[in-house]
Amino acid sequence: MTTRLPAHGIAWEELQRQLKDASSNDVDWRGGRVPMFVHYAGEDVLEVAKQAYLMYFSENGLGPRAFGSLAKFEAEVVAMGLGLLHGGPEACGAMTTGGTESIFLAVKCARDRALARHPGMGKPRIVMPQSAHPAFDKAAYFLGLEPMRTPLGEDFCADVAAMRAALTADTAMLVGSAPAFPHGVVDAIPEIAELAREHDIWMHVDGCVGGYFAPFARELGADIPDFDFAVEGVTSISADLHKYGYTAKGASTLFFADPASFALMGYHFDNWPRGQYFTHTLVGTRAGGAIAAAWAVMNYLGKDGYLRVTERVMATRRAMQQRLDALGLPTLGRPELCIFAFGSPLRDMAAIGKGMTARGWTVGYVNDPPGIHHMLNLTHEPVVGQYLSDMAAVLKEPQTHARAGSGKVDARY
Ligand SMILES: Cc1ncc(COP(=O)(O)O)c(C=O)c1O
Repeated sequence: MTTRLPAHGIAWEELQRQLKDASSNDVDWRGGRVPMFVHYAGEDVLEVAKQAYLMYFSENGLGPRAFGSLAKFEAEVVAMGLGLLHGGPEACGAMTTGGTESIFLAVKCARDRALARHPGMGKPRIVMPQSAHPAFDKAAYFLGLEPMRTPLGEDFCADVAAMRAALTADTAMLVGSAPAFPHGVVDAIPEIAELAREHDIWMHVDGCVGGYFAPFARELGADIPDFDFAVEGVTSISADLHKYGYTAKGASTLFFADPASFALMGYHFDNWPRGQYFTHTLVGTRAGGAIAAAWAVMNYLGKDGYLRVTERVMATRRAMQQRLDALGLPTLGRPELCIFAFGSPLRDMAAIGKGMTARGWTVGYVNDPPGIHHMLNLTHEPVVGQYLSDMAAVLKEPQTHARAGSGKVDARY
């Protein structure tokens, strides 16, 4: 790489052209050909997010004293989120920049609570199902905890008996997902929370995907267990606004059942010449745009807007599932929300993935058992027919039939 800062500035028109050209080989997300990474709820919603972001482009969430506007938006976003997740009068929380940061901070709080309550304990442990997001292991790595993953049940949900068996005196945190990313299924949060209560352990619900989807899906009839603060024993919930909140990237929420747990999230410092420093987040500077866009989109969509989009995403999932099933590619487990994966031991899922890739689809995989993965949004709605006719054509290719040694998928992001 020989690129250097140009000696002389380049005209914006030229840079704009280069920016546009640079994306020419990127995936066509607007055409519904990418199975994750983007959460689209329509041009109008995108425009609201963009305009709100631009209005607060330069403002900084680090300075609530200077930017009372952002402090107000954040407080209202948190209150709206808690309202969806049955937060009681004591519940509280803050915005972060994404799911990984929310999870990182929840792990930090759980660790600190355990160390304070049990000063002689060994390395604190996180006990979580095999389907939990890697953000927990990442946080454990950075924060000095021991991650312990337990097997899933046949339904791809957490096997709570296996979690119970993995408990030790050093366990600082239990995790359940609503839903988990690989198969889109919701863990038995009430049972995991009961285990947490019995042993006085911090219980985190990873609602990064479902926090702003599952409440609406349930209202529309999705058959999932209670997963939020309605369940006694849930200590914290992460819920991403930049996924199914449909806001600009750089926005998540981390909620707590009570102020004492929330207090562990904050960081104070004043031993330097510039005086008192305080943040709730790991990061310092936060894009004011991401906070303003979250506030604007939530208010723009409102409950009826989220219900409308949720209904369409769930209808897209059901249509894909039914027609894939008819093609001999059944869904893995019983996902009821916005993610599903499918596969068959009679087929070589890697060969199917290659066939779909050759037809212009970016393919996401799961690896146990081998399958193909979709995290849906409204870009997928108009291309369901095309996806399925391409799939039907791919299934006619002889190499897509399973044979000895075939089927291992390359499940990369
Ligand atoms: C269940 C779950 N938790 C956490 C995350 C991490 O979120 P982020 O990529 O915003 O850090 C994801 C991302 O897909 C997820 O699916």
